Amino acid sequence: MPKNNLVAPSILSADRLNLQRDIQAAAAAGADLFHIDIMDGVFVPNLTFGPDFIKSIRQITSVPLDTHLMVQTPENYLNAVVQAGANLVNVHVESTKHIYRVVQKIHELGAQAGIVLNPGTSVASVLPLLEIVDNVLVMTVNPGFGGQEFIDSMTLKIQHLAQLQKEHPSYTYSIEVDGGINNQTIKNCQQAGANIFVAGSYVFGHDLQARINNLKQAIIYEES
Ligand code: DX5
Ligand code: ZN
Repeated sequence: MPKNNLVAPSILSADRLNLQRDIQAAAAAGADLFHIDIMDGVFVPNLTFGPDFIKSIRQITSVPLDTHLMVQTPENYLNAVVQAGANLVNVHVESTKHIYRVVQKIHELGAQAGIVLNPGTSVASVLPLLEIVDNVLVMTVNPGFGGQEFIDSMTLKIQHLAQLQKEHPSYTYSIEVDGGINNQTIKNCQQAGANIFVAGSYVFGHDLQARINNLKQAIIYEES
């Protein structure tokens, strides 16, 4: 992934009855990626979308698709998710017995691969993966629902990931944050070293252009 700052609206908070309108408005307002939350009701206590939904989104926008798989045994869905048009596939490290193989499989399918750290998951537990992943997604809320409050202590995890990159030039991953991102928390995350910012409830259901502008303005002065 490029290391520039990217704002990724999470369509979990878009109006389900007016999705095309919301997605096209967010694209026009400057969305850099669309974040799509796939939940299976097993790995997290909520149900959302599947690969057919990704395919429909792909048909109405050229904005890259950042998929977040909150499903048990994600290996069962990788092919369908990439075929549907996902550019980046993020997988929770606890969702499979073979996370290394899952990352390799995503690459074989031709997509970029990310690993997701729950709030209780440490960076230390994923050290062997850091050399091969394109993205590390730091959950800044417990996964499953939009509209939750940002967990401040997660900025330490972001700092740890950024520090490791300084020590290891071969670590080229982006650092993505997801949950409770608004025009204040985005600054803390950026200062800690994150560069992809997912925002759902802050963006949708409001003046999309103004909210996306606010997010971009909040981080613009730090951009190198
Ligand atoms: C939560 C999802 C998030 C969610 C974020 O499990 O992974 O992507 O949409 O929503 P907000 O920005 O409202 O916290
Ligand atoms: Zn997400």
